[in-house]
Order: sequence, then C-alpha cells, then structure tokens
Amino acid sequence: MKYRKFDLKKDKDAVFDILNECGWVHNKKKDRYLNKFLPAANTLVIDVNGQAEVMATSSIGTIRYQDEKLKLSAITGVAASLLARKQGFAGKLTATRLALDAEKGAEVGVLCIFDQGYYNKLGFGNGNYEQIVFITPATLNIKRKPKTPVRLTEKDYKKIHKNRVNRLPNHCAVTLPEYTTQVELGEKDKQMGFGYFDENGNLTHHVWLHGKGKEQGPLWVQWLAYENLDQLMDLLAFLKSFEEQFLLIKFVEPSLINMQDFIEKPFLIKGMTRKAEHQNYINSSAYWQLRILNLQKCMKKTHLNCEDFSFNLQLSDPIGKFIPEDIKWRGIAGDYIVTLGQDSSAKKGKQEGLPTLKASVNAITRMWFGIMSASTLVYSDGIKAPDELLKKLDKAFLLPESHVDWGF
Ligand SMILES: CC(C)(COP(=O)(O)OP(=O)(O)OC[C@H]1O[C@@H](n2cnc3c(N)ncnc32)[C@H](O)[C@@H]1OP(=O)(O)O)[C@@H](O)C(=O)NCCC(=O)NCCS
Repeated sequence: MKYRKFDLKKDKDAVFDILNECGWVHNKKKDRYLNKFLPAANTLVIDVNGQAEVMATSSIGTIRYQDEKLKLSAITGVAASLLARKQGFAGKLTATRLALDAEKGAEVGVLCIFDQGYYNKLGFGNGNYEQIVFITPATLNIKRKPKTPVRLTEKDYKKIHKNRVNRLPNHCAVTLPEYTTQVELGEKDKQMGFGYFDENGNLTHHVWLHGKGKEQGPLWVQWLAYENLDQLMDLLAFLKSFEEQFLLIKFVEPSLINMQDFIEKPFLIKGMTRKAEHQNYINSSAYWQLRILNLQKCMKKTHLNCEDFSFNLQLSDPIGKFIPEDIKWRGIAGDYIVTLGQDSSAKKGKQEGLPTLKASVNAITRMWFGIMSASTLVYSDGIKAPDELLKKLDKAFLLPESHVDWGF
C-alpha cells in the first residue's frame, strides 16, 4: 500500500468522485470541504489504477484532560470510493495518518464513528454518551428577557473562532484550528449566527445555527460558545425568543448542564408530541471515540485526587499491523510501570511485587478519561486485574463527564 499527500490540483476530480460516491459532496467547484478543508488539513490518499481512490485526513488541535491540554490528532474524514472498498485501504490509511501525527507529537487521537467496531480495530474506545436534544423553544423554562445580539456572518470567522477557543472549558473539550471553524460558516442561505460583544469588542458568547429559510424550523444549533454559564442562559433566552415561530430546535446538550432542568413539563410534551413531526425528546449515543497515542505524556499530565499507587500495565494495541513498514511509530503496546496520584507517570518496564493490569489501549483510554470504570471494563472490554487494584482505579478516575464540544 503506497500512500501520499493529497494535492488539490492533481487530485480534485478523483477525490470529488470519492466524496460524491459517499454522498458527502455534490458540487466540485464550490464544496468547501473539498476545496478549502482538505488542502488545509493533513490529507493523505491512496492511488488505485493511477488515481486517488481512498482518503484520510486529520486536524491537529488540543483536548483537555481536567485542567491540562494535550496535543490531539482529530481524524476529520475517512472515505473510500466504491471501487476501493473492503481491501483494507481505508483502515490502513487512517492508521498511517494517526502514526504520522503521533510521530509529530500528538498525544491523543479522536474521531467520529459511522458505526461501532471499525475504529476499535485501531485502538479506539467509545466516548461518553452525548445527549441530542429536540425541543420546541416555547417549552424552554428560561425566565430572563432576551438581550439583542449582533448578527454574525462568515466575515467574522476570526472572532467566532477566538470565542470558541476561549469558551468555558470542560473535561475532554476539543479545540481544532481556525480553518475548521471557517469552513463550517460557508452556507449563507442556510446558516446564521448571533452573538454578544463586550465593551472591548470581544465576542463573548454566540450561537451558530443551520436551518435558515424554513418557516417553522427545525433549526440545528451547530454550536454554542460562552465563557460562563450566565452567558449560556443569555443564549438559551435568545433561542426561546423564537417561540412564536419555530416548532423545533435541535442541539447537542451543552456540557455542565442537564437540559431537562430548563424544559417545562418535559414528560407531558414528550408524550404529546410522540410520533409527531416536531417530536420533543432527548436521544443519547456515543458517536465519538478516542485513544491514547503517547502513554507517558498522557500520564505526565494526569493529576488525580487519590493516594499514590503503582501497578504494572501489560498494554496491548492493535494498530501496529495496519501501519506501513516505513513508519517508526507502531502503537504503544508494551509493559509499563504506572503510578497514579497528584503527579502520575508511566515508564517502560515491569516491577516485581506490584499488581498487574492487563488491558488494551481502547480500554485504558476509556478508564483514563473517566468514561467507564475499571470494574465495568472487565466485562465490556476484557481488562484483567486483581479486585483490590480495580477498586483503587475506580476511585482514582472519578472524573467529570467527558464531552468533546466540537464537531469533527
Ligand atoms: C467507512 C469506509 C471508509 C470503510 O471502508 P472499507 O473499504 O470497508 O474499509 P476497510 O477495507 O479498511 O475495512 C473493511 C473491514 O472492516 C470491517 N468492518 C466494517 N465495519 C465494521 C464494524 N462496524 N465493526 C467491525 N468491523 C467492521 C469489514 O467487515 C471488513 O472486514 P474484513 O477486512 O475482515 O473483511 C467506507 O465504507 C466509506 O467510505 N464509507 C462512506 C464514508 C464514511 O462513512 N466514512 C467514515 C466516516 S467515520
């Protein structure tokens, strides 16, 4: 398998065909993902019969681990044309992209899944459930009067991106580069943005919406950005102000709150709108996955509220067999001595007398982010450890909920 860098001039027609066959892209000239995003991102292709038939791309950003920031490789697209399926190309190219990013310093990898199982083979494990909220704005229980915002357009992309970067942080929050924001702003006839500025001209909170031009909605909140929860209340009050016209707004539940606390009679409305066009409900799924790419660096930035304890980790990582021979980074499988506490660490080797945890990188990543407890991972992901160690791990990783709060 030979991979190479994407070249817009040379590969535009071929990559358009790949993306068009996937149903993602319909306009070769104007599509922003093809013409703006892929050239700015780290895009690789594989040729079959002399032209690109498979692509995988990543964007380098950050992911928060409590108050620390880690270097992130976000896989922001994987696709194979209809003639290049089931040859192993797509999986290998994704692994190649991750390996090259890991060599350049990425500490964690993240991606959205088309289904569960495929990326598990590359060491990824399920993230937290995200709640997708479908509500009629009239049911929002927000008492404050809406403030009049300023209209935002694509031209404001720098301010919009800065506000997203400076948003109220939460555990596991992802931030990607400016081009990822800019590319999302391009559909003038369907999108609109509204925001609030402080006296120094800084955008402090805003909402970016999709669904313009439909009399009763639905409106899709592409993102909300705010520096504190009071500003989130401003944004919810603003969305409620649409209540005379729009029947449905959809959004991913903001981290740190439960939307149900802000909905009037949620069960009554859910029952009354059951099977209706504008059904009100909250739906959850784990649609993103992540994996550790550098265990030592991740542990160095891990500060836990527990007494120090150490164990031997026998770590397996399935990604190596998907990576071409010419790349040095082949995953993180191996033996480590891990110490957890205020200042955690992982170093290569084994120490006699310590208990042993046997786990895959998929499972360790989930435990480390606090997504699933060690005791549960015994059954869901097949990890093995003495009971006493499992109990210590369960307590050590009682962390806030993980939410990525960024589309990719
Ligand atoms: C997703 C996509 C890239 C996969 O392409 P592909 O050519 O089937 O992938 P690969 O050849 O690398 O892998 C195929 C293998 O994965 C397996 N697989 C597929 N889905 C799986 C799942 N959910 N769980 C476990 N294994 C899975 C297949 O059974 C096959 O196994 P085999 O090698 O033992 O026969 C392709 O279907 C595509 O381009 N889809 C449209 C765009 C898209 O959805 N991209 C993904 C965005 S997250």
